[in-house]
Amino acid sequence: MKFGFFDDPNREYVITTPKTPLPWINYLGSTAFFSLISNTCGGYSFYKDAKLLRLTRYRYNNIPNDEGGRYYYIKEGDTVWNPGWMPVKTDLDSYECRHGMGYSRFTSVKNGLEASLLAFVPLNDNCEVNQIKFTNKTSEKKSFTLFSYIEFCLWNAMDDMTNYQRNLNTGEVEVIGSTIYHKTEYRERRNHFAVYSVNTPVDGFDTSRDEFLGAYRGVTDPQVVEEGKSHDSITSGWYPIGSHQINVELEPGETKSFIFVLGYCENPKDEKFTAPNVINKKPADELLAKYQTDEQVDAALAALKANWEDLLSKFTVKSDEEKLDRMVNIWNQYQCMVTFNMSRSASYYESGIGRGMGFRDSCQDLLGFVHLIPERARERIIDIASTQFPDGSAYHQYQPLTRKGNADIGSGFNDDPMWLVACVSAYIRETGDTTILDEMVPFDNDESTAVPLLEHLKRSFDYIVNHKGPHKLPLIGRADWNDCLNLNCFSEQPGESFQTFGPSEGPVAESVFIAGMFVKYGKEYADLCEFIGKQDEADRARSEVSAMNDAILKDGWDGDWFVRAYDAYGHKVGSKECEEGQIYIEPQGFCVLAGVGVESGEAKKALDSVKEKLDSKYGIVLLQPPYTKYHVELGEISSYPPGYKENAGIFCHNNPWVSCAETVIGRGNRAFEIYRKTCPAYIEDISEIHCTEPYVYSQMIAGKDAHFFGQAKNSWLTGTAAWTFVNVSQYILGVVPTLKGLSIDPCIPAEMGTKFTMTRKYREGVYNITVENDNKVEKGVAKLIVDGKELTGTTVVPYEKGKTEYNVTVVMG
Ligand code: BGC
Ligand code: NOJ
Repeated sequence: MKFGFFDDPNREYVITTPKTPLPWINYLGSTAFFSLISNTCGGYSFYKDAKLLRLTRYRYNNIPNDEGGRYYYIKEGDTVWNPGWMPVKTDLDSYECRHGMGYSRFTSVKNGLEASLLAFVPLNDNCEVNQIKFTNKTSEKKSFTLFSYIEFCLWNAMDDMTNYQRNLNTGEVEVIGSTIYHKTEYRERRNHFAVYSVNTPVDGFDTSRDEFLGAYRGVTDPQVVEEGKSHDSITSGWYPIGSHQINVELEPGETKSFIFVLGYCENPKDEKFTAPNVINKKPADELLAKYQTDEQVDAALAALKANWEDLLSKFTVKSDEEKLDRMVNIWNQYQCMVTFNMSRSASYYESGIGRGMGFRDSCQDLLGFVHLIPERARERIIDIASTQFPDGSAYHQYQPLTRKGNADIGSGFNDDPMWLVACVSAYIRETGDTTILDEMVPFDNDESTAVPLLEHLKRSFDYIVNHKGPHKLPLIGRADWNDCLNLNCFSEQPGESFQTFGPSEGPVAESVFIAGMFVKYGKEYADLCEFIGKQDEADRARSEVSAMNDAILKDGWDGDWFVRAYDAYGHKVGSKECEEGQIYIEPQGFCVLAGVGVESGEAKKALDSVKEKLDSKYGIVLLQPPYTKYHVELGEISSYPPGYKENAGIFCHNNPWVSCAETVIGRGNRAFEIYRKTCPAYIEDISEIHCTEPYVYSQMIAGKDAHFFGQAKNSWLTGTAAWTFVNVSQYILGVVPTLKGLSIDPCIPAEMGTKFTMTRKYREGVYNITVENDNKVEKGVAKLIVDGKELTGTTVVPYEKGKTEYNVTVVMG
C-alpha cells in the first residue's frame, strides 16, 4: 500500500494522507540552522548542535507520537483545524504534504478555506520561514482567526527536560509588536536569543504556555484557541512559548499570505543590551527585514531550489529504470547531504542529545557526499582528523559545536583509524587536491602537536599493523564497524554500556572485518603514497596489505565463507563451529570488495553462501542463525531479540557491501537484485509493511526471524545513504573517480536495457557518458570512446588542460 507518490520533475514526495504508519519527515537547513519537519508539521529546530542550541522543544517518548511542532490553528466558527492535521486532528476535506529538497509544503482545505503552508530554511540565514497562504474557495465572505504556536526549548535540550528545579525559574521573553524574543539565560552567559515573528500587525499574542493551553489541557485543545482570544501573556519562568493571533477576513476567491519567521540571533558580548536586560535587537531586525514580503520568500525559495538543481546536476543517470533514476538523481544524494550534516545526531530515532558526530560514521558519510561540496568535505576531514590520538586511534565521537572529542566514550573502536584513510582517499580521488595531505592537523585538538595530514594516515595504517592478535589479524578493541560485537566487554549488569564497559583493548579478540578494510584502504593508502612520490612507503604499505590478505585466507576463511572474528578466548565467531551466528554478512562483503579471494575462488564461494544462508525477500540479514540467548562473550549483538538490529536484522548499511562485492566478481544481475531489495523507491508499494519513509533508507529492516519481518526502523541517519550511493554510482553504474581520472566500468543487470546515459561533473570537466550494451553483458568494457577517439582501458584521463566537456561512449562487451 502507498500513502503518496513520487513527483520526480519537482523532486518531491507527495504524501496524500496525514495518517502514515510513522511520522514521515524532512530536513530543512543546509549548514547551520536546521529543522526537522514531519508530514503533520511536527519536529523541532536547532542551531548547529541539536543538544546544546535547541530552539524549540521536542518531547521524548511522546503520546501520540510526534506531538509538538510549528502549529497553526485555524478557527472558523466552531471548527478548529490545522493545515498539517495535527495536533487537533480535525478531518480535512483535502490534505497534501510535499516534502522537497530542503522545504516542505502542506496544502489542506476545510469548509472551502484552503491553507497552504510552506516551510524552509533559507540558504544563508539562520531561520525557518513559514509562509502560510489562505484562499477563500467559496462564494461567501469568510472570517476566521489564526493562532500560531511554537514551544521554546531552554537551549540545552538535555538539561531542558531534566533540570526543572532551575529551569522553571529562568524563562524570559520580550514582546515588541509582532515579534516575540526568547531570551532565557541571555542575562548571563548566553549571547544568543531566538525570535519568532510575523510580517503583519497582530491581534494578540502569548508567551506563557500555561496561559495559552490552559490548565490540564494539551496542544490538542488550547484554551486560547477555544476562547478565540489571546491572553497577551508575558511569561516569567515556567514554559516560554511563542503564539500570535491574527484575525483574517477573505472575500470570495481572495488570497492572503502571512510570513512567520523563527530565527536564531547572536550579539557580540559587549553589545548584548540596549538597556538593562533589554536585548539589542539589531541582528533580529536585520534578519526579519529579509522576509517581509512574498517576493522575498519566493526569491529565497528559488535560490534554495537553484542550489539543489546545481548540486544534483553533478551526477545524473537516465535509464529504463525509473526507480533507479529517481533514487540516484534525487533522494539518495539528498539523504547523503542530510547524513553529512547530521551524522547520527538528530532524527526521529536519534534524540539529538546523544552521540554528536561519530568518527566512523562521519568518515563514511563523506564517501557519499564528497562529490557534492568537496570544500565542505575537506573541512570535515580536518575536524575529524583533529580528534585522532598520536598512536593513530581516535575519539569515537565528537560534539559538532566544540569539535572536541567526547571523553565519555573515548577510543578503542579499532575500525576507526582506517575510515580516515577511506575518506581522505575519496576526497583526493574526487578533487585531485593532494595539498590536503600537507595540512597541519593536531592530535586530540592540541595545536602544539600538529603534523601533516599524511602523517595521520600513516598513524592510522600503523595502528592496525601494530595491533594484531594471535592469527595476525587486527585486534578488535571495543568493537569494529559492528559495534554490537563487543568481544572484550563481558557485561553482566543491566545498564552497563556495551560501548564502554570492560577494557578498551584485549590481546586476543580479532576482527576479520578490519582485516578486509585494511586490505581495501591499505591499498588506497599505498596508491596515495605512490601518487605523491613516496614509493618506499607505498611498497611498505603493499607488503603489509599482502600479509593481511594472506592472514585472511589462512585463518579468516571457514571453508565456505569468511569467519567474522575471534573472541577473547580465541574461539571463532561466524563459523560452522558456532552453535548460533555461524555466518555474518560483513566479512563476506568487505573482504570481497577489497579483492580478497577473487582470484583463488573464495570470493565467489563466500557470496554464494550469502545468497544461500542470509538472503531474504526484503534483503540480506546480518547473520544466521540469530542468537537466541545472551552470550556474555559476544556482547550487545546477542541482547537483541532474533531478527532485530545487529542480531540478524536486515542492516541496510552492509547490504551494499555485498552488492559491491558482486560487481567485483562481475555478477551484475545479483548486484542489482541486492540493491533493489532495500531500495526505498522499489518498496514504496509495501509502505504499510515497511512503515518508514519510502524516499529514504532506514538503518534496519526487521529480518526473517523477527515478529515484524520487513518493518523498518531508524530512518534517515544511517551510513546506508552513503554506501548505497557509492554502490550504485561507482560499482553498479561504474563511474569511479580515481587518482588520475574518471573510470567507467559498469556492472549492470538486464533491467538496464541496451543503453543508458549519465552525466558526471568531475574536477574541471563535465562528462556526458553513454553506455551501450547491445550484447546485454553484465560487465566488461569492449570500447571506450572519448570525443570520437578510442582509448584503451576504462579511465578517461583529462587530456587537455582547461577542457571542460568530455563526450564518452562506453561499449560493453
Ligand atoms: C546500536 C548500534 C549503534 C550503537 C552505538 C547500539 O545500541 O545497536 O547500531 O551503532 O548502539 O550507539
Ligand atoms: C550504527 C552506528 O552508527 C554505526 O557506527 C555502526 O557501525 C552500526 N550501527 C553497526 O553497528
